[in-house]
Amino acid sequence: MKLFVDTGDVEEVRQAVEWGVLDGVTTNPTLIAKSGKGFRETVLSMCHLLPDGDISAEVVATNYDEMLKEALEISSWHSQIVVKVPLIEPGIRLVSTLADKGIRTNVTLVFTVPQALMAAKAGATYISNFVGRVDDLSDDGMVAVQDTVRMVQDYGFESEVLVASVRHPLHVVQAIQAGAHVSTMPFKIMQMLFKHPLTDSGLKRFLDDWNQAGLSIFEKQTASV
Ligand code: G3P
Repeated sequence: MKLFVDTGDVEEVRQAVEWGVLDGVTTNPTLIAKSGKGFRETVLSMCHLLPDGDISAEVVATNYDEMLKEALEISSWHSQIVVKVPLIEPGIRLVSTLADKGIRTNVTLVFTVPQALMAAKAGATYISNFVGRVDDLSDDGMVAVQDTVRMVQDYGFESEVLVASVRHPLHVVQAIQAGAHVSTMPFKIMQMLFKHPLTDSGLKRFLDDWNQAGLSIFEKQTASV
C-alpha cells in the first residue's frame, strides 16, 4: 500500500521524505490556506522534495469551464502533479476530459460506492474515499472503502482507491485489510505508525544492558582476532 502524507506544510513533507517510505502528498484548499504560503510555490516545493511522488493539488472552481482552466493551469506546473477534483457533476465531466488528455486526477470528497463508480468510470487515477468524516457521524466509513476496492477489482477499473480522512493508525490497518491502494494521513498520524510502548521499553532494556556491560561497536580489535 502506498503512503501519502496529507498536508500543506512543506516541512512535514521534508521530514517524511527522510524516512524513505513516502509515495506522495495530498493537499486540499483548507491545508494550503493553513500553510500561509502560496499554492504554486508550496506544491512545487513538494514536487522537488519527493521527485518520484504524486502530489495532489485541488481545483477550487465549481463550474466546468473554470474548473478546466484551473486544472490545466495546475497540471502545467509539474508532471508530478495530480489534479484533485471534487465529486460534483462538473467535476466528473472534468475528470473525463482530463483523462482523455492524459492528465491524472484524484477525485475527492467521495463517501459512497455510487460516487466511486462515477469517478472510476470517468477515468480517475485516484478515488479519495473519506473515512473519518463518516465515522464522525457514527457510521462506519471503512465499509465504502471495502466495497469500492471490490468494485474496482471485480470490474477491472484502473483507478486506485485512496483512503483519506484518516484519523488514527487503526484506519491504516483497516485500509490494508480492505486492500486499498493508498492511505493518506496527517503527518502526526504517520509518526504514530512507528509507535509501540513495547518497542520503547524493549529498546531501553537492550541499551541499558549493553551500556552496563561497557561494550562498544567500535572497540579496538585484538591481534589474535
Ligand atoms: O485531504 C482530504 C482528507 O484527508 C481530509 O481529512 O481529517 O479533514 O477529514 P479530514
